Amino acid sequence: MSHTYRPVLWNKNKYWYDAVLIVGVTLYLLVFLKLAPEFQSVTRPVDVPIQRMRAFGSCAFLMLTVILCIGPLARLDRRFVPLLYNRRHFGVLTCIVALLHLRYVLAWYYSFSPTQDFVALLTSNTSFGQLLGFPFELFGIFALIILIILAVTSHDFWLSFLTPPVWKTLHMGIYFAYASLVAHVAFGYLQDVDNPLFALVFMGGALLVVALHVVAGLKESATDGHRDGEAHQNWVPVCDVDEIANKRGRVVILPNDERAAVFRYDGKLSALSNLCAHQNGPLGEGRILYGCVTCPWHGFQYRPADGRAPAPFTEKLPTYRLKLEGNMIFIDPKANPAGTYVEPVLIPEENAS
Ligand code: HEM
Ligand code: FES
Repeated sequence: MSHTYRPVLWNKNKYWYDAVLIVGVTLYLLVFLKLAPEFQSVTRPVDVPIQRMRAFGSCAFLMLTVILCIGPLARLDRRFVPLLYNRRHFGVLTCIVALLHLRYVLAWYYSFSPTQDFVALLTSNTSFGQLLGFPFELFGIFALIILIILAVTSHDFWLSFLTPPVWKTLHMGIYFAYASLVAHVAFGYLQDVDNPLFALVFMGGALLVVALHVVAGLKESATDGHRDGEAHQNWVPVCDVDEIANKRGRVVILPNDERAAVFRYDGKLSALSNLCAHQNGPLGEGRILYGCVTCPWHGFQYRPADGRAPAPFTEKLPTYRLKLEGNMIFIDPKANPAGTYVEPVLIPEENAS
């Protein structure tokens, strides 16, 4: 399959998405800086530079928490799918906010040190042998390096250059960044909490991310139709025709653990690989628009019968054979080469004349 560099064009939704993001971040920072003085401990007041550092640090942490919640939420409820668009802009903005957090950390903690600030940062705490006072900054540095790599490679050019599977694996690094941030906060701020509200928000956010991933994973394994195909000469049962709404898809996990997406449209059924050629988006969660399977992530389109993008585009996907026994759909788990035409299966009731 060829992956040519084709930038995703700007549209009205993208401008709105980015505007809402920027307004949301600005409001959070303003409200934090306005309210933080009211909540601080009377015996240990915190000055403005530290409040700024906390405002940007907590904002970046919460942004990453929301980013990681969007995926499982979209798998649990389709109404969240539009939030998947532009997640990359969300990530880049998170990296910028995290860099501003570092700027305030350096400006405050190391500004009176005769040593160069980055050197001071790396050498001022070397208590590696103890939990209380562990140099938690290192976890922040590790997370920030990952965020920078992901932000720099977020452009479509890198997706095309690295190929979607490598790019996707690289961007899974966001989970390591998040785990490292949880450690950064747990070994840092949470060891000397001066406001239980912040502690609750941080811990609640991290628990929410884990819980949503577990629930979405359980739901997928229960509904994806992973069934044993042996009893049907290797044809794998998918589901009842009526379980797929018109112009919608259904994901099925095949015995080799690949995923296919079965679509119902205009009284017919067709199946394609579930992985979009653009960025491996989940095609089975998309819908048929203008006769084409439309990826829910950035809108790449494919004809359901041959898996080919309509001209002038050239992407193509593997296709699968289907058959109907009564109302039950079966899929042949052996994928056809990308772009192979497969005659759609007709749904008898909808084609009776
Ligand atoms: C070079 C990287 C980093 C360094 C050196 C660093 C340093 C620090 C320091 C010194 C604190 C303690 C602030 C205090 O006394 O209250 C802190 C707290 C925190 N940091 Fe970082 N940090 C880094 C990266 C990050 C990143 C990438 C994030 C989030 C994406 C982050 C999120 C937080 C949060 C949520 C807190 C706790 C709340 C707060 O006190 O601000 N940090 N960080
Ligand atoms: S993953 Fe981008 S359009 Fe499908």
